[in-house]
Amino acid sequence: MQARHRAPTGRAVSRRKPLLLFRTIFCGEMGLNMEILRIDGGRRLDGAVTIHGAKNSALPLLAASLLARGTSEITNCPQLSDVAASVNILRHLGCRVERSEGTVAVDSLPLSRSDVPDSLMREMRSSIIFLGALIARTGEAHMSFPGGCELGARPIDLHLAALRQLGVKIIEERGRLLCRAGGRLKGTAIALDFPSVGATENILLAASTAEGKTTILNAAREPEIVDLCAYLSRCGARIQGAGEGAITVEGVERLTAAPYRVMPDRIETVTYLAAGAVTGGRLALRGAEPAHIATVLPVFEEAGCELTCRPGELEIRAPARLRRVRSIRTMPYPGFPTDAQAPLMAMTSVADGTSVFVENIFENRYKHAGELIRMGANIKVEGRVAVVEGVESLSGAPVECTDLRGGAALVIAGLAADGTTSLREIHHLDRGYEGLDSALQGLGAHIQRIEE
Ligand code: UD1
Repeated sequence: MQARHRAPTGRAVSRRKPLLLFRTIFCGEMGLNMEILRIDGGRRLDGAVTIHGAKNSALPLLAASLLARGTSEITNCPQLSDVAASVNILRHLGCRVERSEGTVAVDSLPLSRSDVPDSLMREMRSSIIFLGALIARTGEAHMSFPGGCELGARPIDLHLAALRQLGVKIIEERGRLLCRAGGRLKGTAIALDFPSVGATENILLAASTAEGKTTILNAAREPEIVDLCAYLSRCGARIQGAGEGAITVEGVERLTAAPYRVMPDRIETVTYLAAGAVTGGRLALRGAEPAHIATVLPVFEEAGCELTCRPGELEIRAPARLRRVRSIRTMPYPGFPTDAQAPLMAMTSVADGTSVFVENIFENRYKHAGELIRMGANIKVEGRVAVVEGVESLSGAPVECTDLRGGAALVIAGLAADGTTSLREIHHLDRGYEGLDSALQGLGAHIQRIEE
């Protein structure tokens, strides 16, 4: 499977130094995070950690909740800035949202508008997932184009083409999308050029209440798709084939709210496995679902780790020195997940031997390599391929999170490195990892979140 490469269609105010003062005010106004993570590496991790609900499942579930009339209580919902961004969108649309630890209750009945302002769209790229749900619920949606991001251009052509096939009129005008359905959407057969996760989610949302049958061919098969289908089905949707390449949706008149528990986060699981592995540690991951990472687990075994699956728990025991892994090629599910590429690159950068990565999903997903090199890693990137020659040890350095999973890679590298790593731009991490620093502290890491 080839990637779809295309042309890019402070808080506290210091009184000490004027430059710092300027930067603090400037960054504060820009909404930039002035906190850093300081990691004193070289500590072996030992203990147990509980895996949170999956970000990539919680976000589409929250968007779906506006389609289901009444109050949906979404439990095991991680406390992340991306979840807060989704809640902001739901509240803007008129939904009543109550949050308490791990639970988001969305009452969609008072929904009163169908536009999402640019400022809310920009908070999170995956806000595009609201498109299908809004059109299905209100017959229209006005929002800005999500644009590119750290990983590349990230077009939404597949989402738009599919919605058009379902009968939505879409005008793309000066960065805005004006979408209108003249009545109920009409089910049809949609063949995706690529099994896009977001496009599959948008089609599922739009098709659930469409008239007649929709078939999605070459649908994404990720566990998060299965989770979304399970919630929609509980709300009354009629969906067959979730988790397979062909999904059929028999449209129903309306969906009714239902409670739902978010599946465990498979990428958070892989991140902790890599953190345990790189420190020669022993970790028990409570609530992890090994079946969702069946193509990732053999990579840890190849590197010399011992894995034990017990009911509700996955344990990793790592050797003093990891071995190289031959080749990692990212692919749509059930292939190796692109979101696990960066954490594993950090891990292999201290393994004995040469590991090769091929990134097939996103065109620009090796930015963390440059930061790992600052810490002493030996990595050569050429196009979609990265060759990692494992080194004996990394050295702590000042580095920056380049994106969410790239940031996780730098935390892993910092845990393994000799000396101190100071990691900036950690707002990326807060998008996708709840309580990462406190959990790692509990496992024995010396990691602190401090004001810069
Ligand atoms: C989701 C995940 C993200 C993960 C990715 C791939 C969420 C919130 N995010 O992102 O963490 O890395 O799946 O597993 O669930 N593409 C197009 N046109 C489109 C749509 C996608 O060309 O209309 C391309 C993208 O640019 C990318 C590839 O298809 O190269 C995969 O994208 P997609 O599966 O849609 O990922 P997301 O849903 O954005």
